[in-house]
Amino acid sequence: MKSRQFGLPPRPAVWNNPPVPAPADNAISATTRFCAVYGHPIKHSASPPMQNAGIAELGLPWRYLAFDVPPENLDEAIKGAAAMRFIGLNLTVPHKLLAMDVVDELDQTARTWGAVNTIRFEAKDASGEWLPLRDVPAEAVDLIRTVGFNTDADAIIRSIREDLGYEPRGGNILVLGAGGAGSVAALRLAAEGATHLWLVNRTTAKAAVVSEDIQRRFPGVGVSLGYPTGAVDLVLNATSLGLKPEDALPLDLEAFSLNRARFAYDMIYRPAETPFLKLAREAGLKSANGLGMLLYQGAKALEIWSGRPAPVDAMMKALRQAIYGSGQ
Ligand code: ATR
Repeated sequence: MKSRQFGLPPRPAVWNNPPVPAPADNAISATTRFCAVYGHPIKHSASPPMQNAGIAELGLPWRYLAFDVPPENLDEAIKGAAAMRFIGLNLTVPHKLLAMDVVDELDQTARTWGAVNTIRFEAKDASGEWLPLRDVPAEAVDLIRTVGFNTDADAIIRSIREDLGYEPRGGNILVLGAGGAGSVAALRLAAEGATHLWLVNRTTAKAAVVSEDIQRRFPGVGVSLGYPTGAVDLVLNATSLGLKPEDALPLDLEAFSLNRARFAYDMIYRPAETPFLKLAREAGLKSANGLGMLLYQGAKALEIWSGRPAPVDAMMKALRQAIYGSGQ
């Protein structure tokens, strides 16, 4: 999407009246601003309750919505949000790669990890500086641009570190899956300074591409295709196996027995305990599901839009309530 000039018509005197102040209870008013998530499908997204809890806790006059946007409408839908002075967007499946070619600017995070899951709208002020749209009154906006960020990659590391209590630097890690999530996880773990990564994927050719990428970008990190013969620290499931009750396990237990690992992480968070995590728990591994990753990518997005630390406890409580029916 190219930056666009939004011309404003001459203002009738009545427009110069001060805006009606937002109600004290932060209910929706004529000055409410919006964020949203776009996906296709979108109806299972837990981002609206999580982000609205964070927005409320920060006392911002914003709301966060969800829209089902087919990929062929992504550019148009982003332009529409800009025209309506949205603060920012999240993007989920299938938009994260497409958005790389749609936004005006790519933040370093999007360039490094090759995917955009967060967009911030920015407006040019009188001195020619780009400011986040939160800092510009909707009626004063002239030129708008979109900046793409990636908050997923860092969220994986933060969740592994905080939810498992495991430090991936110097670690030996088995990564299951080399799709969108698996490739970002493997690359991010390599960037974090893992010692050796083993990559397993149903379609071996995709794991081979990730392996080559790691060898090229992080030559100090060891990488192998297939299961390790010895022990590892962490087994990470980044496949979609475990989402449905009838799914097979994401790993071959004859090729790799879970008692050869200390930690297990499953990017899936619904169900809370996948068969893989259940086996890991029974084998005595410390384990965590992907809820923390969902939380931390959302928390970082809210920080990018608001410029303030995200209230992660309130956001986590809302997530748990939305996904598991209990905030505990
Ligand atoms: P995401 O963005 O969530 O990573 P994806 O890119 O479609 O989604 O990746 C899904 C992952 O789950 C891939 O690693 C996929 O393996 P392939 O690359 O071989 O497709 C894996 N996966 C999905 N269904 C699977 C199945 N039935 N058996 C084994 N692996 C499966």
